[in-house]
Amino acid sequence: MAVPRNYHVVTFGCQMNKADSERMAGVLDNMGMTSVDDPNQADLVLYNTCTIRDNAEQKVYSYLGRQAKRKQHKPDLTLVIAGCVAQQEGEKLLRRVPELDLVMGPQHANRLGDLLEQVFDGNQVVATEPVHIMEDITKPRRDSKVTAWVNVIYGCNEKCSYCVVPSVRGLEQSRYPADIRREMEELGRQGYKEITLLGQNIDAYGRDLPEVAFKNDDVNGGDKKYDFTDLLNYVHDVEGVERIRFATSHPRYFTERLIKTCAELPKVCKHFHVPFQSGDNELLKDMRRGYTREQYFHIIDTIRRYMPDAAISADAIVGFPGETEEQFLQTMDVTERVGFDMLNTAAYSPRPGTPAAVWENQLDEETKGDRLQRLNHLVSQCAAERSQRYAGRIESVLVEDQNPKDPNQVMGRTDGNRLTFFEGDINELKGKIVPVEITEIRPFSLTGKALAAVTV
Ligand code: SAH
Ligand code: SF4
Ligand code: F3S
Repeated sequence: MAVPRNYHVVTFGCQMNKADSERMAGVLDNMGMTSVDDPNQADLVLYNTCTIRDNAEQKVYSYLGRQAKRKQHKPDLTLVIAGCVAQQEGEKLLRRVPELDLVMGPQHANRLGDLLEQVFDGNQVVATEPVHIMEDITKPRRDSKVTAWVNVIYGCNEKCSYCVVPSVRGLEQSRYPADIRREMEELGRQGYKEITLLGQNIDAYGRDLPEVAFKNDDVNGGDKKYDFTDLLNYVHDVEGVERIRFATSHPRYFTERLIKTCAELPKVCKHFHVPFQSGDNELLKDMRRGYTREQYFHIIDTIRRYMPDAAISADAIVGFPGETEEQFLQTMDVTERVGFDMLNTAAYSPRPGTPAAVWENQLDEETKGDRLQRLNHLVSQCAAERSQRYAGRIESVLVEDQNPKDPNQVMGRTDGNRLTFFEGDINELKGKIVPVEITEIRPFSLTGKALAAVTV
């Protein structure tokens, strides 16, 4: 089979998947293919999939169905399913969609080239066995020219009773600090201004590293252990990179030492994404989260003690099995007390192979929907309140793009991650950090006026 000429990648799910997609697109570029916007013009279609909730999984099947049909008229179409649904379903997918050429789990993203060679040799390939993730040798095809993701730890060693991630992403694998720094230096040289370091539980970074991985890095003072705080200190001075963000933080590993370091390092943005999932201690225990609401409040207080203005966001689940109205109100209470800048909310969805999915105390969809709506309402109220503090302030905005709805405006983010629009020419301002006086406030975004562009 000939190598396809062009390809189309569709990404579902979290930032981890988006980062994987960029790396896989890099591999396809390297093989001489070109990216096209219209999937129906592509010779190779790759779905990078998510299975965190049932609706995410179902979406994949409907997309896939359309391309499988197209393949009946275009037999040389190469169909690839990657990511978390691929890992979860494995070979079963070939029975469900026989038109598929390649099923590959997230740990195999960097091996896309090899796997495709096998496909072009005429094989139908399934790659879902656990592997040691190879260091990346191809260049990712990054969607943005200003901001970039850099993986620091893959996988998850937690056992939250509702979650598929550990079974689809495998055990934690921390990348070596020197490899992370090298990738960041390269990005700095290419003109990227902001880097988001990625991991399911990024603050668990380093636990699995052998000593040889950090023996040349003296920031941790010859300690026998290496953690995310050490990594931040080690990469902080990378030239050209003006801002560093990271996600996601697990409350169990979010230490005061890390918080203090974030406060001290000027390039680290003062925005923290620390999911709490539920405000009720009994439910937190059933969820197997390993902390209490009091411990969670303590983390938030510590963040605010060091950085009073820090933006804080989180994830929460409503309608977990057995959740009573009172317990749900505890989640509302945490939401209100913390006053999140942003909260990702979701109704609990039973996932295959997870303990909570087979518990008998499942709630009905109506109760879940009702709670979700009430929580979302509170979230926008809190966000609107939090936004108010920006009124009249001067915020540093890193310009990423044109406002798609108004070509006279550009858009970017404040240090605290609020999306901000202001009048300006994208050709002149892209990648610049601009002081912007905030004139209009909305719950999740702001509008302002540029004072003067600062070249960085
Ligand atoms: N590692 C991160 C989150 C990864 S998954 C953490 O532990 O916080 C992203 C979010 O999806 C979770 O924070 C949770 O809020 C949500 N989620 C995970 N499993 C879910 C399920 N079965 N039903 C509904 N939401 C779920
Ligand atoms: Fe899922 Fe829990 Fe791991 Fe987060 S920490 S990815 S919620 S198992
Ligand atoms: Fe979805 Fe996999 Fe991320 S299940 S949320 S794409 S880790």
